[in-house]
Amino acid sequence: MSDVYHIPAMLSETIKGLNIKPEGTYVDVTFGGGGHSRAILKELRNDGHLFSFDQDIDALQNAIDDPRWTFVHGNFRFLRNWMDYYGIGYIDGLLSDLGVSFHHFDCPERGFSFRFPAPLDMRMNQTAGRTAADIVNGYSEDELARVLWLYGEMKNSRLVAKNICRARSQKAIERTEELVAASRIPAEMSKELARLFQALRIEVNDEMGALREMLLAARDLLRPGGRIAILTYHSLEDRLVKNFFRSGNLEGTIEKDFYGNILTPFTLIEKGREASPEEVAANPRARSAKLRIAEKKLPSTNLGRS
Ligand SMILES: C[S@@+](CC[C@H](N)C(=O)[O-])C[C@H]1O[C@@H](n2cnc3c(N)ncnc32)[C@H](O)[C@@H]1O
Repeated sequence: MSDVYHIPAMLSETIKGLNIKPEGTYVDVTFGGGGHSRAILKELRNDGHLFSFDQDIDALQNAIDDPRWTFVHGNFRFLRNWMDYYGIGYIDGLLSDLGVSFHHFDCPERGFSFRFPAPLDMRMNQTAGRTAADIVNGYSEDELARVLWLYGEMKNSRLVAKNICRARSQKAIERTEELVAASRIPAEMSKELARLFQALRIEVNDEMGALREMLLAARDLLRPGGRIAILTYHSLEDRLVKNFFRSGNLEGTIEKDFYGNILTPFTLIEKGREASPEEVAANPRARSAKLRIAEKKLPSTNLGRS
């Protein structure tokens, strides 16, 4: 197992893009190894504050000893509730570096990787919710095919779902190596196996649902002039963030005023920036990252919605 918890993608671009106010209140909803959080703290004065969320208690091994820092062990879908709990009405900026840490892939017993034999778990929060085994054994063939198609973009989703269902009718699939065998995806097709595991991980952790709820809360919590930076890693979440920043709503519905101006609470700052070739060479896992940043407009130009 690697002892590197995570290497943050586009670190300097993200911090610069957040345009941090030294006295501001910031939230990093995906603490992980704490690389982005540490860089935000460097920009804050003594009267600034950073709240860092992670639903995986393992992240606490990277805790920062600093009175300006608060760790929230929770799902970022409850951002609004947690900010209410801490008496925070508005924030000056928010960062979300979506998905899992290297730690998750590199920790065999967590079941995130097809490279290691392990129980089929894949929960970021190991104390709650369904495991990947529950889904693989409990979903109908149609439901499984839908998950593989939507979240793994697998062209042969129906065939793979069928293979899995045939295998599980003989014996429940409880382990990563059993899932690999059941899928009948040849070992050398590692990209397809990665897609299968990614799809299940997204479903297990309801990553799209959590992202939707967090975006709405962030929109309402951000102070005018405050910025929200999101690093996405697959096309579905990237499309959601892109449309949300353009429209201010989850449906991506563009509304215009009488003069044809688009009514949105955001000004776009970064529109899907990718890591430089130098960064990808040093950290290949940054290759699929896309950085999107938006700034909350002044109230007069806001589209107030709930
Ligand atoms: C890509 S890593 C973040 C890495 C971090 N930026 C760094 O510099 O090390 C994503 C982290 O967010 C956490 N996470 C993912 N979804 C979450 C959610 N809905 N709520 C809270 N934490 C979440 C994961 O457990 C993981 O540790």
